Amino acid sequence: MDIDRNAPVGVFDSGVGGLTVAREIMRNLPAEKIVYFGDTARVPYGNKSRETVIRYSRQIIRFLREQKVKAIVVACNTASAFALDAIRDDLDIPILGVIEPGAKVAAAQTRNKRVGVIGTLGTVGSGIHREYLKKYDPDIQVFAKACPLFVPLVEEGWLHDPVTVEVASRYLKELQDKNVDTLILGCTHYPLIRSTIRNIMGEGVCLVNPAYETALELGRLLEEKNLLSTGTQQEEFPYRFYVSDLADEFKAFASSILPYDVEMTQKIDIEKY
Ligand code: DGL
Repeated sequence: MDIDRNAPVGVFDSGVGGLTVAREIMRNLPAEKIVYFGDTARVPYGNKSRETVIRYSRQIIRFLREQKVKAIVVACNTASAFALDAIRDDLDIPILGVIEPGAKVAAAQTRNKRVGVIGTLGTVGSGIHREYLKKYDPDIQVFAKACPLFVPLVEEGWLHDPVTVEVASRYLKELQDKNVDTLILGCTHYPLIRSTIRNIMGEGVCLVNPAYETALELGRLLEEKNLLSTGTQQEEFPYRFYVSDLADEFKAFASSILPYDVEMTQKIDIEKY
């Protein structure tokens, strides 16, 4: 199949969190156009079953294919953990999740071979980081901790609030006690409270941001497949945003974390797909 290298990249997440990944793609691959889908009607994915997350992801892939994207980034950690293998089989364009790029860098960074992972209940329960980390280095010990309260705190905008600091201290205590020297921020929202996590874990712990690593990996993948855009981003709307519910709330959150104001979002009926 001939893929148009100047077509947009499709990026999807359970809601707004995947914008942390879109933001890194915008920064690191500025010539790439993006079609973003946030499943705001069905968020969160973090406490849903594998079967449900696979079904949702398949619907979104159908929608993104209709938008004629050249590649897909599964920006959601939970969807990457549960659905990536299942949806990869259905596809004839490149697809990338956020778990492997983060695990790869963590395996390369750790010195004491003690790596921490934080994420949703689904991501942590899947054990997928352990699988990847052990593949890179069987001697690595993995300590995972689900931090389900982080997502609502971030969406509330309490990035530096004392409540968030208290919650983070309690969640992270276990990982501090395990003496991890590397910590994977295994959920879309966590890079937004990176400084709080950094203050608690201390400067000696390397924080891995899978959003950033995935953007770099996407660049390598597109280059390898000869799919890097040759465009100069002159288009009026290089970034298009779609949601399954409440476009206005999405717009407000998006504008607070992206380097520009999001003017246009469109609501679509994802259950049709
Ligand atoms: N986007 C999800 C993730 O990265 C977090 C929010 C949710 O639970 O849907 O796992």
